Amino acid sequence: MKKTIVLLPGDGIGPEVTRAAKTVLEDTSREFGHSFELAEFPIGGAAIDAAGVPLPAATLDACRRADAVFLGAVGGPRWDARAIGKRPESGLLALRQELGLFVNLRPIHLLETLRDISPLKPERTAGINLEIVRELAGGIYFGARRTEREGGQERAHDTESYSTGEIERIAQFAFARAEARSRHVTSVDKANVLSTSALWRKTVTEMSGAYSGMRLDHMYVDNAAMQLVLAPSQFDVILTSNMFGDILSDAAAALVGSIGLVPSASFGTGTPLFEPIHGSAPQLAGKDCANPIGAILSVAMLLRDAFGLSIEAELVEAALGRVLARGYRTTDIAERDSRIVGTSFFTEVLREELQASVEHAERYGWGV
Ligand code: NAD
Ligand code: IPM
Ligand code: MN
Repeated sequence: MKKTIVLLPGDGIGPEVTRAAKTVLEDTSREFGHSFELAEFPIGGAAIDAAGVPLPAATLDACRRADAVFLGAVGGPRWDARAIGKRPESGLLALRQELGLFVNLRPIHLLETLRDISPLKPERTAGINLEIVRELAGGIYFGARRTEREGGQERAHDTESYSTGEIERIAQFAFARAEARSRHVTSVDKANVLSTSALWRKTVTEMSGAYSGMRLDHMYVDNAAMQLVLAPSQFDVILTSNMFGDILSDAAAALVGSIGLVPSASFGTGTPLFEPIHGSAPQLAGKDCANPIGAILSVAMLLRDAFGLSIEAELVEAALGRVLARGYRTTDIAERDSRIVGTSFFTEVLREELQASVEHAERYGWGV
């Protein structure tokens, strides 16, 4: 299979986890006889430094023409004094919007080998297997903003707005996901206070009638945050808005052990985008200690969801499971008897395991 993949390393630990993702893509391409063409472009703070803007035209252009995009992370203290709209993060927001990506899928699984690193008691973690379907192209992230002087002080405004159509297209994705899982959607909103949420709840309820056997629950976001910690296994698919999804997904990541573990995929009208959900972790940058698993699992999602290469994706996931089973861990997920290793060593062990998987599969068949 011939494909073009754009890599956007970004800032902080972004380049370090992107290196791991790139290695996995190159190895998969070679071992399976594909022809993946990889090209790197700047985004975020790196792009501000190189080209003066967080999303240069050449970067956007390459992303539009690619078959898939992988992004590391953007942002950092170097650029924190910049105005909203001129910061590294606005490059990522512009990219999502320009590519028409209105779906952000964030799977939260407790990896079998990492059962003991959850901060929850084992009886509460049993059965954590949920997907957060986050609306990505609307809501308060993209509404009008302004700051004005008022008397002797400043007043700032951000606007949350959703149309029926914007709610319908993300809800449709969530219901379709749930149809292939346990047919249970929990729609999370703040419909006791916000008119956007009232429209959200009404629209999602009306749509649910079209999906037979579908169970739809509604939950206020404050309760949802608590329920995620108290009883996470009650959730199958969580459907929610842009900002609520951002917040709840970091909380959900903590339940499975580390934000460094969670991948994501974004879909819409343009090129799909794959990125770990964590940020640029400036304190860890340059130390070769970032957890690359969220990035590696994002590559597995890219292979499966953008290219339909499910065997390749499964072999990457299986190889990762074996690296963890051998005790290799980055510091964020280390246990008492772990072999603590850096990002690049972890990636090297994964390469070994991936190659062993491919050799095994060639000899005994392509099941995993
Ligand atoms: P963060 O996700 O970078 O870090 C939060 C915490 O998680 C920190 O303690 C960090 O050390 C840890 N962490 C994150 N990723 C890790 C990994 N792969 N391995 C081990 N530990 C990891 O969030 P933050 O500190 O709130 O933000 C830092 C910067 O990143 C900010 O500029 C923010 O805007 C940006 N950010 C970018 C993205 C993105 O590019 N998608 C996402 C979130 C935050
Ligand atoms: C994420 C990040 C981004 C978001 C920021 C960096 C714009 O937190 O991908 O979760 O809020 O969407
Ligand atoms: Mn976030």
